Amino acid sequence: MKIAVLKEEADGERRVSATPETVRKFIGLGATVAVEAGAGANASVSDADYQAAGATTGPRAKVLAGADIILGVQGPPPNSLAGAKQGAWLVAGLNPFGERARVDAYAKLGLEALAMEFMPRITRAQSMDILSSQSNLSGYKAVLDAAAEYGRAFPMMMTAAGTVSAAKAFVMGVGVAGLQAIATARRLGAQVSATDVRSATKEQILSLGAKPIFVENVAGIEGEGSGGYATEMSEEYQKAQAELISSHIAKQDIVITTALIPGRPAPRLITDAQIATMKPGSVIVDLAVEQGGNVEGAVAGEVVARHGVKIVGHRNVPSRLAADASALFARNLFNFLSAFWDKEGGLPQVDDEISDAVRLTRGGQVVNARLLG
Ligand code: NAI
Repeated sequence: MKIAVLKEEADGERRVSATPETVRKFIGLGATVAVEAGAGANASVSDADYQAAGATTGPRAKVLAGADIILGVQGPPPNSLAGAKQGAWLVAGLNPFGERARVDAYAKLGLEALAMEFMPRITRAQSMDILSSQSNLSGYKAVLDAAAEYGRAFPMMMTAAGTVSAAKAFVMGVGVAGLQAIATARRLGAQVSATDVRSATKEQILSLGAKPIFVENVAGIEGEGSGGYATEMSEEYQKAQAELISSHIAKQDIVITTALIPGRPAPRLITDAQIATMKPGSVIVDLAVEQGGNVEGAVAGEVVARHGVKIVGHRNVPSRLAADASALFARNLFNFLSAFWDKEGGLPQVDDEISDAVRLTRGGQVVNARLLG
């Protein structure tokens, strides 16, 4: 079983899909591992580190030749995979809705493309979930990015020259990223509040010492759909939420938005008119900016100012913590492949529930229900 680890080509992508730790573990399972030269350079892993772990390193063509499993963080351009073995697996975050043409191209190349962001949200797949591991880091980094743009301090400080009051931080969307954002903002000393459409998050917000801000007594209140993901809310709910948020937001110094709905554009949570009510110098971080944005006026890849408020729209936030993000991503991939490892040396025997969810292409066809449906 030969595993190929590609160097990422996407703009601004600093992560890598295997680390010396996971290379050693794959070799322990009987695999050989070939890493494209320079693949780990932006995540503080050198070619020598991979070699010391037992991998070979070299140019893409050599790494790909005869590989049974190809690992990536993002989906590589299909034309860079020419020469890959028929039936080889491509295991990465493939952004299937956003990069549909690439999925078709992987099928044409005869690859089996497995999209790790389609991992089902079931207990036994938790350790394989790249969305979860990467969101955790995004939530943390979003708060640090906000603090860096904010011209004031987060904690209350009593000094001989007088008192600095604590920053008020509001987290919108309390999934994995939001929970980590709450915890991080609390650790920095902010007064933290948070909201979500899933009422189950109320307890979680309280348990982190933050204040829940929730719409009560409105139809369509339960926003939890399958797999713990959010669903789109009723119009009545959206109106009530907008009113509540408007009055709350005007008092906030920092807002972190993380709200996503799988396969749909991100819900719009903050309008330009609401931003105009915030104090100048406040900071909003929109973690959903690449999925269409929760915040009106947010621009992917930029920090923009509206009404004296900074709106931070960094792309690919996990990549801004490339070393840790790679370590967790690489473990997710290892946990997935090793759980189904075939001791006879064949491709892993992934059970139907997980394989039906993550497999996009097989036998030259797109086979995933979410893409076909
Ligand atoms: P996500 O990244 O899909 O969305 C972020 C948050 O935004 C969610 O909490 C969602 O409810 C919220 N949201 C959506 N629309 C909103 C709106 N209009 N206003 C306010 N908030 C809105 O969510 P994530 O982080 O993936 O987590 C979703 C759930 O899945 C959580 O309960 C999490 O614990 C669970 N989970 C389970 C896993 C497993 O069992 N393997 C792995 C990871 C997460």
